[in-house]
Amino acid sequence: MLKGFRQTVHAKRGLRMKQLYIIGIGTGNPDHLTMQAIGTLNKADVVLIPRKGEAKSMLAQIRRDICERYLAKDDVAIVEYDVPQRRSAGQDYDGSVDEWHDALSIIHEELLSRHVADGRAAAFLVWGDPSLYDSTIRIIERVRARGRESVDYSVIPGITSIQALTASHRIPLNLVGKPVEITTGRRLASGFPYEQGTAVVMLDGEEAFQRIEDEDVYIYWGAYLGTEHEIVLSGRLSEIAAEISRTRREARDRHGWIMDIYLLRKGQDFDA
Ligand SMILES: C[S@@+](CC[C@H](N)C(=O)[O-])C[C@H]1O[C@@H](n2cnc3c(N)ncnc32)[C@H](O)[C@@H]1O
Repeated sequence: MLKGFRQTVHAKRGLRMKQLYIIGIGTGNPDHLTMQAIGTLNKADVVLIPRKGEAKSMLAQIRRDICERYLAKDDVAIVEYDVPQRRSAGQDYDGSVDEWHDALSIIHEELLSRHVADGRAAAFLVWGDPSLYDSTIRIIERVRARGRESVDYSVIPGITSIQALTASHRIPLNLVGKPVEITTGRRLASGFPYEQGTAVVMLDGEEAFQRIEDEDVYIYWGAYLGTEHEIVLSGRLSEIAAEISRTRREARDRHGWIMDIYLLRKGQDFDA
């Protein structure tokens, strides 16, 4: 009896809950969207599109194009919102990220409160895949922990910039039986992590690859992967680092911003 009562209460609450779909959209090519992503997008009543300033307006435009191309209904509300910049970290990287996530969780809470009715669903279109250097999941967990919005969510995987990079270079991610580290420019500063293996470096505004002095390291670099502006370069790091740096600078000047990633490799598939 009590069990039945509990189930009824739960079902009623479930009816009122807001549903969020955190959808990976790939890295700039609308063809990266999976059938699952398109199907889920079409279950949403509201699509939330982040704007990250004039320089990165292309990112919002790609999301708008995705909606135009894939939304089959015309009664879906598209809500755009501004994302604040994270304060520069100084010595306190963790503190600045924590503060930023908190500010973002309040923005997300307000978006849900203002634009998504109880029992309705909203979609976040997340660049690449939501599990890789993206904080949407963490931020929604903060919203849930605060408890002002009753919200449940699911995550739909997307093509990552790592996959876009390895596909464009036509290389496997790992050497046979050898490890892969995914890291940031800040972390790479301490050197190439393996005797033999692969390091993928993301979020590197400082060109940390320039500090690796090892004749046996190869680099596979890519910028604006998946978009019409894609550029890729590869070769022995010591021979090509200066060219990558120049290409990077010129592309950033031309577009006003850059999004790039690279894979560093040392060793070979088979030891003998
Ligand atoms: C905040 S992370 C987001 C990663 C994303 N969730 C993914 O699955 O790829 C942003 C970093 O991803 C990489 N990145 C994302 N999209 C890219 C693209 N189209 N071309 C090159 N690098 C990209 C860059 O290293 C950039 O600094």
